[in-house]
Amino acid sequence: MKILAIDTSCDDSCAALIDTQSWKLLGECVISHASSMVKFGGVVPEIASREHIKGLPVAVHQTLEQAKIALDEVDWFAVTNRPGLIGALLVGVSFAKALAFAQSKPFSVFSHLEAHLFSPFLESFETPSRLPPFPWLTLVVSGGHTELFFVEGIIKYRWIGGTLDDAAGEAFDKIGKQIGIPYPAGPELDRWVREKATDTHRSEFSFPRSKPRPHHFSFSGLKTAVALSIKNLELNNEEVRLSIAASAQEAIVDALVDQISRSQQQFPKSALIVTGGVACNSRLRVKLPDAYFPKPNHCTDNAAMVAMLAALYEREGILKPDAWDTSAHATQTP
Ligand code: KG4
Ligand code: ZN
Repeated sequence: MKILAIDTSCDDSCAALIDTQSWKLLGECVISHASSMVKFGGVVPEIASREHIKGLPVAVHQTLEQAKIALDEVDWFAVTNRPGLIGALLVGVSFAKALAFAQSKPFSVFSHLEAHLFSPFLESFETPSRLPPFPWLTLVVSGGHTELFFVEGIIKYRWIGGTLDDAAGEAFDKIGKQIGIPYPAGPELDRWVREKATDTHRSEFSFPRSKPRPHHFSFSGLKTAVALSIKNLELNNEEVRLSIAASAQEAIVDALVDQISRSQQQFPKSALIVTGGVACNSRLRVKLPDAYFPKPNHCTDNAAMVAMLAALYEREGILKPDAWDTSAHATQTP
């Protein structure tokens, strides 16, 4: 079966095509709209929706071309319908429905978080032996989420905790913005600190590492602490900005690592999986040497993980068509 998947949960128009018979990803495309958000310093939901209307047909077209598959050869359409920016999700859901309707083929809706959870299976195309056996303790850490799950098997998982306020990626982006790094600041801040910072920069400021109740996270206090420190500093000085960036990154990474190691004590036999955009962070990867990280392009938002989830549903015999009146939800629903 050939499944075409679509994800428009935030500001990336994503499409991917999977063949469940040969168990291969035949094509994928991610069109980022981050450049349209730079002047606002973050994602503007209305603009993201409008960008998807332009970007999604291109992403689907490029995916089909790469896969060398015609639209009428697609057997099933899969689309993310929760959680995310509601306007952005509605563009993807409407587009997938229209394609399915025009081709008289079924479509199914999937959770973006569940797709992140099972994204490690994308690696199984190339190196099946690298995939850790269940159970997994999985952290999904991105611009919108910092959520911890206990995963016992395909579709068998439960949420055990998450951020009480901001996501870790949001902290990277907002702290980066305060020191002049354009949105999305996370990747650039990471690169800058990796190339230029020393241990002295990393320990220059002792920003708070919050430790809420087990399995939970909090980053709003850190954001405020950085804002207050900056008030009295000479931000034209590159060394000062580098110290803020390096010390803040250290605080975010330490907060994640400390809470995860507490959770690991409760789930000692579980493999640790870290995914979502912040899972690309090089310092986090250094500080979690035993964790399994999907490839960076499958940590950040993509539709390959949605295609993989639909393929896993098919393999388990639980892929069902959704009704035409199925809609999108801003928050996670069962
Ligand atoms: O998963 P993603 O593409 O989109 C969602 O937010 O759902 O993640 C994007 C987030 C942004 O906040 C971005 O700054 C952060 O992930 N990010 C990073 C790195 N790469 C992406 N944060 C820190 N270090 C990185 N290398
Ligand atoms: Zn995501």
